[in-house]
Amino acid sequence: MEGLFNEKQFAAAMIVDKNGIITSVSETYLDVLKLSREEVIGKPVKEITPHTRVHTVLETGKAIIGYNWRVRDRNMIASSIPVFIDNEIYGVFAYSVFMDIMGAKELIENLLTELNMYKDEVQSLHTAKYNFEDIIGESRTFQDLKCFAKQIANHSYTTVLITGESGTGKELFANAIHNFSSRSRSPFLRINCAAIPENLLEAELFGYEEGAYSGAKKGGKPGKFELANGGTIFLDEIGEMSLAMQSKLLVVLQEQEIERLGGSYPVRVDVRVIAATNRNLERMIKAGEFREDLYYRLNVVHLEMISLRERCEDIPVLTRYFMCRLNIRLKTSIRDISRESLELLYEHPWPGNVRELENVLERAMILADMENMQCLHKRHFAFLDKNVGFKVPSNTKNLKIATQDFEKGLIIQVLRETGFDRTKAANKLDIDLSSLYRKLKKYDISGGKEESTGKNSVE
Ligand SMILES: Nc1ncnc2c1ncn2[C@@H]1O[C@H](COP(=O)(O)OP(=O)(O)OP(=O)(O)O)[C@@H](O)[C@H]1O
Ligand SMILES: [Mg+2]
Repeated sequence: MEGLFNEKQFAAAMIVDKNGIITSVSETYLDVLKLSREEVIGKPVKEITPHTRVHTVLETGKAIIGYNWRVRDRNMIASSIPVFIDNEIYGVFAYSVFMDIMGAKELIENLLTELNMYKDEVQSLHTAKYNFEDIIGESRTFQDLKCFAKQIANHSYTTVLITGESGTGKELFANAIHNFSSRSRSPFLRINCAAIPENLLEAELFGYEEGAYSGAKKGGKPGKFELANGGTIFLDEIGEMSLAMQSKLLVVLQEQEIERLGGSYPVRVDVRVIAATNRNLERMIKAGEFREDLYYRLNVVHLEMISLRERCEDIPVLTRYFMCRLNIRLKTSIRDISRESLELLYEHPWPGNVRELENVLERAMILADMENMQCLHKRHFAFLDKNVGFKVPSNTKNLKIATQDFEKGLIIQVLRETGFDRTKAANKLDIDLSSLYRKLKKYDISGGKEESTGKNSVE
């Protein structure tokens, strides 16, 4: 019987004979008691553990299962079971499990701390950076837009479609709406539909089960919809989503359920969808490039951004705001801007909108700092002039070359005015989209954020 308890065990056990004398004891029990085997074996159990229930079991012959008790400084769950031989009570088998299973408790505590740490990390990765206070603009139209967006934020189940030219603040508004809503403490996840390859987008959005496809991670992976549960998912550049994915997204929006790739059951998700694009979705519908039914699903509330051209009265306040921020980032101390410089900024068509203004100011501030100036002057914006409009080159009398130069210049100008929206530009120029593409290729013109490094980049 002794051998039974020789090994170190997870639980503590002892055997007591019918007279209440300890006959066997486990190592673990000795550890808990902080006594040696010699000090325990042959001793009355009452002497070693005064609160023992062994005597009750010996008297009644009935087992007592699962009672709490404390031995030294340990909480235990104990069971005392009578042992009969030939119908006569032989003794009691007492068995205690550490209730606080010390190691396990510590382990659980550590795991919980770790879990919270990861939760915080995920939270910080999945939080919206901008609030309405970060969105600058005092013009009436812009104030109305902000006001409308705040009202939308309160309707935390309403899908929002944000449209507008590049650099007008679509992403800023999506962030602010989330932060201003009752979902602000839950994740905000952005998906750039243009950046994720078509074949990966479905797995990214809806997740997959183990073995769903070759290369699928062991244990599967939750999709962004699952990760955003309770919060907001921001489908940026929705106009770039393929028709096949558009159909799948439509089902999710209708059912409010997602099914992982290779999964066998749908999972309910509570996520608000905000979608954004600088493309003209209505025109895309006509061209068969965007699903009309998805458009109506997304367009529950429509937020149309205002181009900087349409709110140029905001240029001074935006300029001040960016100069302050840039002074910190660039470690410069440029405090002022001349009236002539501001006039120049008013005249510029701002095809890249507020983003472009920020970039232009950064460039000008670096130039001014190189001259140790604390004020931005017109000359610091000289690079802007080169891009404004088109001037017929005076150095050619060849009609064909001059015509081509003119055509190229006009296309560049219209592209800039339309925020690089090629469909809009084609309309303005009154030519087919395909014909515009041909001319862009012919003149080696690139534009917009995806091709801004081209030789004839117009950004
Ligand atoms: N109203 C604003 N107040 C302050 N900063 C702004 C504002 N609008 C835009 N910005 C600045 O311009 C940058 C671009 O804004 P944002 O990314 O929201 O544009 P977007 O409309 O999503 O453009 P795109 O279509 O190119 O993705 C921001 O990072 C921010 O620095
Ligand atoms: Mg954007």
